[in-house]
Amino acid sequence: MKILVTGGLGFIGSHTVVELQNEGFEVVVIDDCSNSSKDVLKGITKITGKAPLFENIDLKEKDKVEDFFKRHQDIQGVIHFAASKAVGESVEKPLLYYENNLGTLVYILKELVKKNKASFIFSSSCTVYGQADEMPITESAPIKPAESPYGNTKQIGEEIIFDTCKVTPSLNAIALRYFNPMGAHPSNEIGELPTGVPQNLVPFITQTGIGLREQLSVFGDDYPTPDGTAVRDYIYVVDLAKAHVIALKRLLENRNVTNYEVFNVGTGKGSSVLEVIQSFERVSGKKLNYKFVARRAGDITSAYANTTKANDDLGWKSEYTLDEAMKSAWNWEQKIRK
Ligand code: WQD
Repeated sequence: MKILVTGGLGFIGSHTVVELQNEGFEVVVIDDCSNSSKDVLKGITKITGKAPLFENIDLKEKDKVEDFFKRHQDIQGVIHFAASKAVGESVEKPLLYYENNLGTLVYILKELVKKNKASFIFSSSCTVYGQADEMPITESAPIKPAESPYGNTKQIGEEIIFDTCKVTPSLNAIALRYFNPMGAHPSNEIGELPTGVPQNLVPFITQTGIGLREQLSVFGDDYPTPDGTAVRDYIYVVDLAKAHVIALKRLLENRNVTNYEVFNVGTGKGSSVLEVIQSFERVSGKKLNYKFVARRAGDITSAYANTTKANDDLGWKSEYTLDEAMKSAWNWEQKIRK
C-alpha cells in the first residue's frame, strides 16, 4: 500500500518513514530539503534495507502537487509533516509561515477530496493548548489564542482539516498533537539535524555537551514548579513515529470513530529543564555547563499530556524513558560531530 510522507527527510518524518517501511508500506517521500538533507535517505535505506521513492517538490507549487497526485493515483494515505517550525522566525515572517504551513495543506487536501477514500495524518502540536488550565492536558482542553504565527498555523491547520472532513465523508483524518519530540534512532543512522543555533532544549544540551556551544542558558528559574524551571513532556521520536503508523492503520482499517480525530502524543510525564539536564549528565557522564537567565518570551510554565485517549482509543503508548531517549540523542550528537 502506497503512502505519501511529506517532509519525510525531516526529524520526525524520517523516523516515521522507517517505521512505515518496517511495517511493509510502500513510501513516497516529498521533501524540498529546505530544512533537511538528501543524505537522510541513506540512513533510512541502511536501517530498513529499502530506499523510499523520493521527489524533491516544493508543495507551494500547486501545479506540481496536482501533477504528483496524477502520477501516483494509488496513494491511499498521506502523513503530512512538511512545514516550517521555528517559533521566533514565524514572528518575523508570518506570511512565509501561513503560506508554507497552510497553503500547502490546502493543496494536498484538494487532491485528497478527489479520491473515493483517503487517509490523512496531520502534524499538530501541544502548542495549540497554550498554558492549559489543568495538568495533564486532555484533548478536550480549550484551544488558547496562539502565541506565534507558527502556533496559529497548527490551530488553523486543524480547523481546515475539520471543516473539510465535515463535508467530505470519504476523507478520514487524524491530527496528532505532539508534545516535545527528542532523541535519535537506536541504529544511530538518523536523528535530529538542527540548522544553526538550536532553539530546542535537547539539541542545545547535546551540542553544549560535545563542546559546540559553550553554555546552555536555562530560561527562567522562578516558574511555579517544584524546582523553578519549566516543565515539558519529552517524547522519544521513535515512539512518536510509531504513533503515526498506528494512527494511519486505524484509518485504513476503518477503526476511527469519526472522520476527524485528535490525539495527544506524549509520555504523560512532565520533566523540568533541570531534570532534563540531569538526565543528560547521567547518560553522558559529563557535567553540563549551564546558567540561569531570564524567562524566554512566550514560554509557558508547564505542559504534559494526558495520554488516556491515545492509550485506550488509539492503542498507543510511549515506551522509552527520558534517559533512554537522551542516551540516543547523545549517541547521535557524538556521531555527527566526529
Ligand atoms: C523546552 C524547555 C525552554 C532552550 C517548542 C515550540 C513547540 C514545539 C516544540 C515544534 C522550555 C527551555 C530551551 C534553551 C532552555 N513544536 N529551554 N534553554 O518551547 O516547549 O516548544 O518546541 O516544533 O511548538 O513552542 O520546546 O525545546 O524550545 O524548550 O531553558 O536553550 O526548555 O524555556 O522550558 P518548547 P523547547
